[in-house]
Amino acid sequence: MLWVAGGAVPRQASCARPKTEIVERPTTFALRRTELRQLEKIAWKPGRGCGQVENSQIRDILVSSNAAGRRATAVLRKSRVERALAMNIRSSFFSGTNLDNFATSGALRFRARAAIPGGAHTYAKGDDQYPLLAPGFIARGLGCHVWDVDGNEFIEYGMGLRAVSLGHGFPAVVKAAVGQMSQGTNFTRPSALEVECAERLIELVPAAEMAKFTKDGSTATTAAIRLARAYTGRDMIALCSDQPFFSYDDWAICTTPMNAGVPRAMAELTQGFRYNDLSSAEALFARYPGRVAALILEAEKEVPPTPGYLATLRKLCHRNGALLIIDEMITGFRWPGCSAQRHHGIEADLSTFGKAMGNGIAISALLGRREIMELGGLNHDRDRVFLLSTTHGAETHALAAALAVMNTYRDEPVIETLHRQGSRLKAGIENSTQRRGLTRYFKLAGRTSNMVYACCDRDGVPSQTFRTLFLQETIRRGLLAPSLVTSYSHTNDDIDRTIEAIDGALAVYQKALEDGPEAHLIGRPVAPVFRRRATSTSAGTPRTKVRGSRDAKAS
Ligand SMILES: Cc1ncc(COP(=O)(O)O)c(C=O)c1O
Repeated sequence: MLWVAGGAVPRQASCARPKTEIVERPTTFALRRTELRQLEKIAWKPGRGCGQVENSQIRDILVSSNAAGRRATAVLRKSRVERALAMNIRSSFFSGTNLDNFATSGALRFRARAAIPGGAHTYAKGDDQYPLLAPGFIARGLGCHVWDVDGNEFIEYGMGLRAVSLGHGFPAVVKAAVGQMSQGTNFTRPSALEVECAERLIELVPAAEMAKFTKDGSTATTAAIRLARAYTGRDMIALCSDQPFFSYDDWAICTTPMNAGVPRAMAELTQGFRYNDLSSAEALFARYPGRVAALILEAEKEVPPTPGYLATLRKLCHRNGALLIIDEMITGFRWPGCSAQRHHGIEADLSTFGKAMGNGIAISALLGRREIMELGGLNHDRDRVFLLSTTHGAETHALAAALAVMNTYRDEPVIETLHRQGSRLKAGIENSTQRRGLTRYFKLAGRTSNMVYACCDRDGVPSQTFRTLFLQETIRRGLLAPSLVTSYSHTNDDIDRTIEAIDGALAVYQKALEDGPEAHLIGRPVAPVFRRRATSTSAGTPRTKVRGSRDAKAS
């Protein structure tokens, strides 16, 4: 998407069409006059002066004005269009703020989309999850501050998709990991650190008697599912359908709209049950008697468990010969006592940890009762389970990092701080929403160590457009806040500056409720990760025709 700026045109200004200029770095790119006029026609909106142009529209203009016609498309894409899209999106919108420059991000974005499907290695980090005017790439972080590739600084509240609970570059963790790295990270036989780290983790989790490490959460939850199937001799599993994500693997992705490539048969083996609703789990067991190997859920998300829910769910599982798996990927190292199981006094048969356990360094774990876990070991006479045997599963620097994390949690008030700073933030934001009459439209949810927010439109209905506007306005004010997750590094000053920035963003939100978000939002709204089609809303490279897809056959 390219921005065509019409100079400093007041929003409510008359119909006088401004002189259009393409905002770009001087040396990069120049459109022909005819092309400029066509872009101007598309971009110019009465009363607004400037607007956006879809990549496809730019391409059409450039192709149609080119004498060589369609055959030149590839060349154009590589040269003129590429440079046009990679061009600065510096806009008069941002003048007067400290975030007027995403030029390097803009250029990198195009290369990323050309080299990496989706332009990123986690969908939640992708362009379609952020407003048009957003930092595209982060260069470095320190504590709770990050700097993008253009040098813009943000206080951040995504914390590496919640993988960083102590803060970016936390010295004790860096020292432990780097120290270990210099001694070698992967050997032909196990390292002693594997034993030490497993023992320390087992101490933390009430029901766990054995642990096995791997690199990411999905691999750990998938291992739990395989183990539960082997232990019970059943194929079917059930996941909590009110919770969005457990794994990138087929058993979980088959339940989402983004299930291309997953065999249909998988969907028959994965059922759903509702959170805090025992009757839905009862109905599941009644419908599939003797077939369900395990139920998997997060013990708590935005809503806490109703009293007795988790304990009764566990009993229900056991009465029906199934296991209870608790996924602690997010709750682990964020809930009091380092786990939701401990906090809610529930003992899972199997549980999975990751994210904050390595403070951003890749390490995750499957934990559980000995008689189940041992199926992946050597001390039994049943069929052997291939359980988490990977080349990189126990890299020494990651284990050293996890030990440093656990030591820090043991010696310092980490979890108290996550909650205290979250509470301070919550109080400030709620003060602002009340003052501005926005309590119905902007809502906080979740524990104060792991807050999220909901953005609603003027009918009180959750709205991606308003979410995008909120993100845009907070980015403008120096925040990167897809969620409101605090870290041990968020100081009072960071929180207070955040409250002030959010108050400014909410002032715009308030206006947008009156005159419509389109008057304030630059570009398209964000889109849910789990959607069947990419659609043309995402900025960047043209859609690729994939061989074998319906699009390709139609073309
Ligand atoms: C609850 C939960 N389980 C599992 C996962 C998968 O973890 P990973 O992305 O490390 O594979 C996630 C990731 O966001 C998660 O939130």
